[in-house]
Amino acid sequence: MFVMETMATIRSRHAIRQYTGAAPSPAAMAQIETALQAAPVAMGAYDHLHATIITDPAILKAIDDTAARQFGRANMLYGAPVFILLSAKPAHETLGNADYASAGIVVHNMALAATAAGVGCCYIWGAVAALNQEPATVAKLNLPAGFVPCCGLVLGEFAGDYAPREIPSDRIGINRLA
Ligand SMILES: Cc1cc2nc3c(=O)[nH]c(=O)nc-3n(C[C@H](O)[C@H](O)[C@H](O)COP(=O)(O)O)c2cc1C
Repeated sequence: MFVMETMATIRSRHAIRQYTGAAPSPAAMAQIETALQAAPVAMGAYDHLHATIITDPAILKAIDDTAARQFGRANMLYGAPVFILLSAKPAHETLGNADYASAGIVVHNMALAATAAGVGCCYIWGAVAALNQEPATVAKLNLPAGFVPCCGLVLGEFAGDYAPREIPSDRIGINRLA
């Protein structure tokens, strides 16, 4: 298991958008999958979430191409060798905020585990929004019936190391009611 002190991990994590092309080690992937399974989800409805671990270069390219067609931006998966997509099954007609929050929290749990393991990662929502515009690409993902892609995380080795950052204390506004 790769270990980094919790606050050091939180301060070190940042979006990595350049990858060497090398995949994370199996041990690092195992740690990231543990974080996937350990995440909290709304109402404990684990059966309403699904992860797709994509390493097939043809599928990664299909998603990139879809994003480029929809948004006119190439390389939205940054050439990372692994993309973990989180999909949710809507409890009602469309996905609700708890569905998106659960998927996002799973992704963030994995991002922290990746950081602790020294694996590069970046949240991916833009390319997933594009993906949802092209059912033909979604069909390539073999999702269980009723699941809709929400968000994901790209992963891979990167040149460099994580180091704890100074975090400004006023990035997010706070009001205090004492
Ligand atoms: C909900 C969410 C969606 C995001 N979507 C993308 C994305 O599609 N592509 C991307 O490159 N970064 C994406 N990011 C990363 C943010 O741009 C990044 O976390 C933010 O600018 C802060 O930078 P840092 O992560 O390096 O601290 C996303 C982050 C979050 C939390």
